[in-house]
Amino acid sequence: MNKSMKERAETCAAAIRKHEEVRIVSHIDADGLTAAAIMCRVLEQLGIEHGVRFVKQLDRGVLDEVADANIPTIFTDLGSGMLSDMPGGMDVIIADHHQIDQNGSVEYHLNPHLFGIDGSTELSGSGCSYLLAQALGSPGLEPGDLSDLAIVGAVGDLQARKFGKLVGCNREILKQGRDRGVLNYKKDLSFFGKQTREIFKLLLYSSDPYLPGLTGNEDASIEFLRKAGIDAGGERWRRWIDLSVEEQQRMVSSLVQYCISKRMSSYHVHRLVTEVYLLTEEQEGTELRDTSEYSTLLNATARYGFADVGLAVCLGDREGKLAEAHELLADHRRNLVEGLKLVRERGITELSHVQYFDAGSSIRDTIVGIVAGMSLTNSRNRNMPIFAFAESDAGLKVSARGTQALIRKGLNLADAIGACAARVGGTGGGHNIAAGATIPRKSKDEFLELMDTAIGEQLRIAGK
Ligand code: C5P
Ligand code: C5P
Ligand code: ZN
Repeated sequence: MNKSMKERAETCAAAIRKHEEVRIVSHIDADGLTAAAIMCRVLEQLGIEHGVRFVKQLDRGVLDEVADANIPTIFTDLGSGMLSDMPGGMDVIIADHHQIDQNGSVEYHLNPHLFGIDGSTELSGSGCSYLLAQALGSPGLEPGDLSDLAIVGAVGDLQARKFGKLVGCNREILKQGRDRGVLNYKKDLSFFGKQTREIFKLLLYSSDPYLPGLTGNEDASIEFLRKAGIDAGGERWRRWIDLSVEEQQRMVSSLVQYCISKRMSSYHVHRLVTEVYLLTEEQEGTELRDTSEYSTLLNATARYGFADVGLAVCLGDREGKLAEAHELLADHRRNLVEGLKLVRERGITELSHVQYFDAGSSIRDTIVGIVAGMSLTNSRNRNMPIFAFAESDAGLKVSARGTQALIRKGLNLADAIGACAARVGGTGGGHNIAAGATIPRKSKDEFLELMDTAIGEQLRIAGK
């Protein structure tokens, strides 16, 4: 890790150690939950009293409440986009990886972007929290402890997607976890659900990559497995982890051949196999074993207002709260399937440089970004970023997602969305590849026009 970032982590840690009581404010997704859990663990060990609050996004309302409470506050997985609105006269510590608000500054600010490290691929919010926890140190904390949570957060933020593996600081954390014996990694089929789902469901629900003729078609998925010589098993379908290595290899090569025969792009064919990350101390055959399934389980809690459930699971509850999380996961999966169906039915509108859909009240504002991302992955048109709108209490929620190819052409969604949202009286930010905003309802058309122009400019200027 970068030496100056390490020093910054030490400075932030020293600012926390001065206090007997702090507050944590974190984000309601897998990365935010794991970031908060890491802080909770180490503060507990240090005997520093702490409370946690989870928010959909950091806005002035939340920051006013933080200022009123006047208790030293650690922001995890959020904060960097709101530096100019941070309360003064109290200790504020930020451990975040979002793009930084250039109009303000905070002394105790740990963010990879400050040190030339890419916060959308090389370090997550939970990774920052991990670095801070390691700097805080505590008698019980060994190097590599809590790295499992940091990697769940990074995978939840899709940080392994760009290269099909974790890189940069994430990789250093991964190796510390492997050396500590809590993490393992290997190349494997990329599909979701290898620990817990019946094999045919890996094909049936595959969205990254989308498998023409198999995705969404149960009979065809089962037939594919039969032809590949993969036995379903006895009364209960087997899962991926139940297959022998030879069967797994056979299935992967059948899939590769199938995808090539369907003329899928080599980009998509390559996505069939990626690096995967396992938590070695969790039980095999459970969501918690696989970082991707774990992060989805967490998203199923906090994004639906049950952050306490996800936090408890991160902190080690393997009974009541884990059972609650499982129930929430079933609902979450249904909602994602319904959401994708809705987008297919309503269709996506293309402007000159962006495409969008409006989910109204049919998709929750807290998961519409996930649906947007999955829709773009499956879309024939990957040449334009996608914008999704959904109703929220605070106004109109916007979620935007791009691709690595567009980023190479100059796309930066956080820059564009931050500027355009501000022009219509809203707020927004995020990362180059994924960003969001809340804007006044009446401003949707104006906002879209501004975005279309802004994205056109980004791609044109960079293309020159
Ligand atoms: O707020 P936060 O930083 O945790 O969220 C990051 C978001 O970026 C996630 O919703 C994740 O799905 C999205 N993302 C993406 N594609 C990538 C990397 C991140 O959609 N390649
Ligand atoms: O909500 P969604 O998943 O679309 O968010 C994508 C990214 O944009 C996340 O990293 C989120 O933290 C960020 N975001 C933001 N400000 C908002 C809404 C989202 O920085 N008002
Ligand atoms: Zn994050």
